[in-house]
Amino acid sequence: MSLTPDASGPLLTVTGLRKSFGDLEVLKGIDLTLPRGRVLVLIGPSGSGKTTVLRSLNALEVADAGVVELAGVAGAAPARIDFGAPVSKRERQVQRETLRDASGMVFQHYNLFPHKTVLQNVIEGPTVVQGRPRDEVVAEAEALLARVGLAEKRDAYPFELSGGQQQRVGIVRALALRPRLLLFDEPTSALDPEIVGDVLAIMKELADEGWTMVVVTHELGFAREVADEVLFLDGGVIVERGAPGELLRAPRQPRTRAFLDRLLRPLD
Ligand SMILES: Nc1ncnc2c1ncn2[C@@H]1O[C@H](COP(=O)(O)OP(=O)(O)OP(=O)(O)O)[C@@H](O)[C@H]1O
Ligand SMILES: [Mg+2]
Repeated sequence: MSLTPDASGPLLTVTGLRKSFGDLEVLKGIDLTLPRGRVLVLIGPSGSGKTTVLRSLNALEVADAGVVELAGVAGAAPARIDFGAPVSKRERQVQRETLRDASGMVFQHYNLFPHKTVLQNVIEGPTVVQGRPRDEVVAEAEALLARVGLAEKRDAYPFELSGGQQQRVGIVRALALRPRLLLFDEPTSALDPEIVGDVLAIMKELADEGWTMVVVTHELGFAREVADEVLFLDGGVIVERGAPGELLRAPRQPRTRAFLDRLLRPLD
């Protein structure tokens, strides 16, 4: 098997992803492919399974069935997990770690360690999990913090930061892992409205730089401007997918239309 990445193929391929929590079937067979450097936006009502999809992509969630594949990149082999295949616990653990190592997740509620400083939060994964040299990781972390305007906050604790600042640290923490894929789970929905634009601007910059991203968000302006494709998820299935200009302006499916109508006219 060649480890040379095929630059023309998709970076992410997901087939037949299924997940139940007890009797509740949350994902009923999700398929998606995402070429390198593209941005996929996932929308859908609360409880439709968006977070479960995202968490399955980096094996934070162990799905019941389905395959998640990340193509290799220079210096890193492909990562693949077949959730339905019977493998030993040890082998499953290795697959999960490989997949997790290849992607960076940005959470709705930041999920920073409260007892660690900004810098410690950012370098934890690269040094402890990835085992990279501390000096190199710190230098990279400082450059990333400077880039998002937080150089002077490196020794602050999360409680000393605003929500927008914490989320910028969350993004830097994901980038510091040097991931192949960036995953965002409603990264701005906990922020004050005047801060939302700052975080979306950073995400747009990352997209422009060529990062491959899967973004759960209800910021339709961002989706229209940045997404290459939008998926509408409802009841654990992809009801509709398309270019943002088509899906958001003229949805074909009544469920998509009803959802977008509610989103755009929340007070009706
Ligand atoms: N660990 C869990 N145990 C039991 N049920 C769960 C678990 N995680 C999620 N669920 C259920 O699975 C369904 C999908 O949840 P998920 O978090 O993926 O939805 P979502 O689309 O992200 O919703 P939201 O927009 O509210 O974040 C929900 O009904 C949820 O209650
Ligand atoms: Mg969610």
